[in-house]
Amino acid sequence: MSKVMPLISKNCGQIRPTSVEDYVKAGGYAALKKALGMKPLEIIEEIKKARLMGRGGAGYPAGAKWQQMYEIEHTPKYIVCNADEGEPGTFKDKLLLEQDPLKVIEGMTIAGYVFNSHDGYIYIRGEYAAIQKLFQEAIDNAVQAGYLGDNILGSKYSFHLHVMTGAGAYVCGENSAMLNSIEGKAGRPRVKPPHLAEVGLFQKPTLVNNVESFANVPVILDIGAEKYLSIGTAESGGTKLVCLSGHVAKPGVYEVPFGVTLRDIIFDEEIGGGMSGHRKLKFYHLGGQSGPCGFLPQLDTEYCYKALRANGLSVGSGAVVVLDESVCVIDYLKCVTEFFIHESCGKCTPCREGNKQLYLILDKFSQGTATQDDYRQLERLSNLLAKVSFCGLGQAAATALNTCLKNLRAEFDAHLSGQCPAGVCFTNQETESGE
Ligand SMILES: Cc1cc2nc3c(=O)[nH]c(=O)nc-3n(C[C@H](O)[C@H](O)[C@H](O)COP(=O)(O)O)c2cc1C
Ligand code: SF4
Repeated sequence: MSKVMPLISKNCGQIRPTSVEDYVKAGGYAALKKALGMKPLEIIEEIKKARLMGRGGAGYPAGAKWQQMYEIEHTPKYIVCNADEGEPGTFKDKLLLEQDPLKVIEGMTIAGYVFNSHDGYIYIRGEYAAIQKLFQEAIDNAVQAGYLGDNILGSKYSFHLHVMTGAGAYVCGENSAMLNSIEGKAGRPRVKPPHLAEVGLFQKPTLVNNVESFANVPVILDIGAEKYLSIGTAESGGTKLVCLSGHVAKPGVYEVPFGVTLRDIIFDEEIGGGMSGHRKLKFYHLGGQSGPCGFLPQLDTEYCYKALRANGLSVGSGAVVVLDESVCVIDYLKCVTEFFIHESCGKCTPCREGNKQLYLILDKFSQGTATQDDYRQLERLSNLLAKVSFCGLGQAAATALNTCLKNLRAEFDAHLSGQCPAGVCFTNQETESGE
């Protein structure tokens, strides 16, 4: 049986992305028509039954989030789609935005109907400049065809969509920093609570979901929550867009049902197709730079929220970066830490200073000057970052380091005695002594 299942990505590459005519011919907007005949709470019930987990990284249940937002009485309410896609190794929202933007628009329009919202915003990362234009074209076409704008499909419901653009800061993917950025303020995270469902965009109740999360909404209404849930595992409904990159034979975005294994994702001929060269797999990094690294003994873990969590792993954004034996774990973690140093917004000390200190200690390992005490410092600092950083960026910055410290300890130890098993570190010293 095929391990790839194009469900939310079924239109990708098959239709003209901004053509409402093509989208409708492919079954598009049937879900919106159905939704307009349903009560908002019935729609929320379907999302709950489908067990749709937010696809932006945190995996928060979408149905519970919608229910909380529904219960807030203040108005107006806003719908915001997070299309910042800043997590390295993640490029699945790009696929949907570029090749089936109307599905994302339909999902947002259904959400708007549920909350009697009249304005929605999509925050598209600055680097996706061409996509911003394409998305605007899709919005304009939907308005012209009566699926968006005033009195949608002749109903009393009106919903307007606005494209907003980021300027390239990873932290602006954090939902509250994103709302600040949309408001024209510095993209820095807000104190929570109050939660965004109560005090969000322009201080009003706001629903924030990821691109892929919104794209799942019409699919759930189309096929029904029961069928949708039967596709995934008991805990994780439906499919997931997985982004494969690194030392893998067939990098790209693949839609797989929850429940395939990590081994399937990397080695199955229909998906990753194995390693790109002759070297063996050493480890893989899941869910972006802020996610955990996985190792050979975890390869048969089912790819779903529950099983990954039980094995110290996570779905995160859906990124799977594959690393072979030529990669030095210290060198890799230095790159990861450099990313967080660069992207830290500087608002809180643990993240702003802690990541720099982590880098300096890792650098000692790669120079052969680290001592046993540096292990203690790495552990102390990474725990501190996780516990006291102000937002998810700092809290997750040392996740990869922690998993590597536990599982590749021998490689750290080798560096203490001046050996780099991958032959990446100490190369300068060898050249110098040879001269
Ligand atoms: C530093 C940081 C960056 C984030 N970047 C993104 C992002 O690029 N896209 C995204 O959807 N969620 C991102 N998130 C998660 C969002 O804060 C939020 O949980 C998500 O947009 C909610 O949507 P979902 O429930 O549909 O997943 C990020 C979180 C943090 C802490
Ligand atoms: S953890 Fe602190 S410094 Fe780091 S990005 Fe969040 S708020 Fe900014």
